Amino acid sequence: MNVDFPAPSPSAVAALAFLAVALGAGDAGAQADRAKLLAGRALVLSHACGDCHGGGNNPAADGFLAGMRDTTQQFRIGPFITRPRNLTPDNTTGLGRFSERQIFNALRFGLRPGETADIEITGTMPGQGNFPLHPKYLAPPMPWPAWRHMTDEELWAIAAYLKGGLKPVRNQVQDSDGPPDFWASEYTVEKIGAWPAVAYPAASEK
Ligand code: HEC
Repeated sequence: MNVDFPAPSPSAVAALAFLAVALGAGDAGAQADRAKLLAGRALVLSHACGDCHGGGNNPAADGFLAGMRDTTQQFRIGPFITRPRNLTPDNTTGLGRFSERQIFNALRFGLRPGETADIEITGTMPGQGNFPLHPKYLAPPMPWPAWRHMTDEELWAIAAYLKGGLKPVRNQVQDSDGPPDFWASEYTVEKIGAWPAVAYPAASEK
């Protein structure tokens, strides 16, 4: 059976096509953003960030990722007390004042976001590839020597989730104590291995 429709005018076709592309692109962008947040959330939950930073692995818990709130959450590392910080995007007490790149640099290179410039880092040797000559590292036991082995994509997803997927919570965590070298003598290649990791198989592998 043949049904005749009136042919739409060329300009109407063009307008509709434009609209479809614009809407589609917006949708795809929003979907990609959401997928990235969800990927970041899954990584945060599967890497026990909340065990130290608050709320355990339950995003519905009070104080989820809001940082240390009582002394049961602090650590004693030798003579120093260290304190898990507020990872919610509060501008004064949390990660709100830092860029996603500063969070990425914290997880990949262990560099304290509050004391490291917001720059792309391409080297791991102090003074090379924008790596600070006198790096100020995050205090133990923040497990960045393990987290740095996640892929770029994973670390960006975590940064996007912390900045964009959480409500800001105001909770000022007292600064951690530490040695004058900001732990540099603890975070040598000899002690924490290289990044990227040595080629497989290493001596203990087969
Ligand atoms: C074993 C405990 C522990 C776990 C698990 C942990 N952290 Fe931390 N984290 C810390 C401590 C302690 C500090 C504070 C370090 C300091 O003050 O120098 C910290 C600091 C940070 C900072 C720096 C914040 C700032 O304002 O300077 C970021 C970002 C961070 N952690 C993200 C994460 C993420 C993301 C995860 C999970 C993938 C995670 N942490 C898991 C203990 C932990």
